[in-house]
Amino acid sequence: FEYDLVITNGVCVTASDIGAWDLAIKDEKIVLQAPTGSLAQASAGRIIDAEGGYVMPGGIDCHAHLEEPAIFIKGSNGRSADSWETGTRSAVAGGNTSVIAFAPQQKSQPSLLATVERTHALATGNCYTDYGFHLLIADPNPDALQELKALKEEEGISSIKIYMTYTALQLRDDQILSVLLHARQHEILTMVHAENGDVLNWLTDQLEAQGKFAPKYHSNSRPPILEAEATNRAIALSSLLANTPILLVHISDPSAANRIRVAQNAGQPILAETCPQYLFLTRDDLDKPGFEGAKCVCSPPPRTRADQNAIWNGLANDTFAVLSSDHCPFKFEDTVAGKKSCITAEHPVGRFRYIPNGLPGIETRLPLAFSARRLALTKFVQVTSTNAAKLYGLYPRKGSMIPGVSDADLVIWYPEDRLGEVSITNGMLHHDVDYTPYEGRKVGNWPRYTILRGQVVWDRDGGGVMASKGVGQFVKRGSSSLGNIWETVRNHGPLDLEKL
Ligand code: URP
Ligand code: ZN
Ligand code: ZN
Ligand code: ZN
Repeated sequence: FEYDLVITNGVCVTASDIGAWDLAIKDEKIVLQAPTGSLAQASAGRIIDAEGGYVMPGGIDCHAHLEEPAIFIKGSNGRSADSWETGTRSAVAGGNTSVIAFAPQQKSQPSLLATVERTHALATGNCYTDYGFHLLIADPNPDALQELKALKEEEGISSIKIYMTYTALQLRDDQILSVLLHARQHEILTMVHAENGDVLNWLTDQLEAQGKFAPKYHSNSRPPILEAEATNRAIALSSLLANTPILLVHISDPSAANRIRVAQNAGQPILAETCPQYLFLTRDDLDKPGFEGAKCVCSPPPRTRADQNAIWNGLANDTFAVLSSDHCPFKFEDTVAGKKSCITAEHPVGRFRYIPNGLPGIETRLPLAFSARRLALTKFVQVTSTNAAKLYGLYPRKGSMIPGVSDADLVIWYPEDRLGEVSITNGMLHHDVDYTPYEGRKVGNWPRYTILRGQVVWDRDGGGVMASKGVGQFVKRGSSSLGNIWETVRNHGPLDLEKL
């Protein structure tokens, strides 16, 4: 055969273009884009007729927690429910071809390189998507920061995450500055979880003192102002170090988004992410009888309907570069490591401060966002794939359809109106979780095929998940190329004490 795979009669959508092209794939790469129908008779190992459906670069979910210890909840011995195997299996069934999840540094074994090895041991041979690691920094001691150079140059890990909340993970402002200074030197992008941990802990104590333990009080303990304050502080620290790039993760609050926008308008390399839970859930979802609201406990918490609208606008106007899942599930019924681990005889509706934070969402991210029809198709591709590839140093190998250059990582949707309405149920999902926060929600389309480096790994009508675990490979990543953020930084010293 001349080609391994041909996709004919599709409507290709990239970050910049929509066009009726056929695609030819050989040796894991897209090798040809041709006028629609022209490859229908090509010599190929397999021909897929997209029947007019959209063909896009595969989804890249650049924020997921897989097999991660729940160190963010005091005293918890839980782990996020999905393994590298089940989390990436769920990802392909939702149209994703790459996942970047965390390699969590442990304070007892703080070596970053040892952290990477430990995470490789969990992921190797188990994944259905290609994958990478963000190093989660819990202990920025000088020895660990010395390892950032090797992390970037030898391990191909070009991003780290730090926390301004969660007692076991929260960094002081001076520690944040040290991390940012090192990250800057090695062109490593720092993801920041911006919530004021000290104040939300204080509010939690105040709520408990009044006997307020139910899941809904998680929202009261984390008001939007704590997110906006920490976002502002992170931007201030970044600007002190000559505009060191940061990415503010999982932004939920419009006033935080506005602060980000002001910095961007001033030319600062401030990037931001939001997640489906801030587009599709509200704080009312935590206000259910009994413990049910725990299913929607994540941080920051879902906000209001008006806030959802503002966050959609932030995706449309580029305040947010990416829409990621922040997939961090805990089983609901699991009374040891799951959401119900905080229920005791004394506290029949649990204690919100001990509910493991996080939601499943790696499989529903693309169908929910696509079906909402709030974003232009090219914008949808940008925020779910192309920008993620650029942000984390995977572009143009991932997130694009450049012949001869891009991996044949694709998602093919059903033709318009072919499926009718699909009602999301947990039973149809491929994660290892006993609930979805989107149970019963209707979507108008779903990924029909997911193709990883030319191999069909998901065929919804032809058997579901088609590949075996291990088909996904670790990808080494380079510096971020989104908006040339490192270019300005390279031309400036990090900190000029004379100029302060
Ligand atoms: O509630 C959340 N977001 N859980 C995951 C951990 C994190 O902060 O991203
Ligand atoms: Zn260094
Ligand atoms: Zn976070
Ligand atoms: Zn997260």
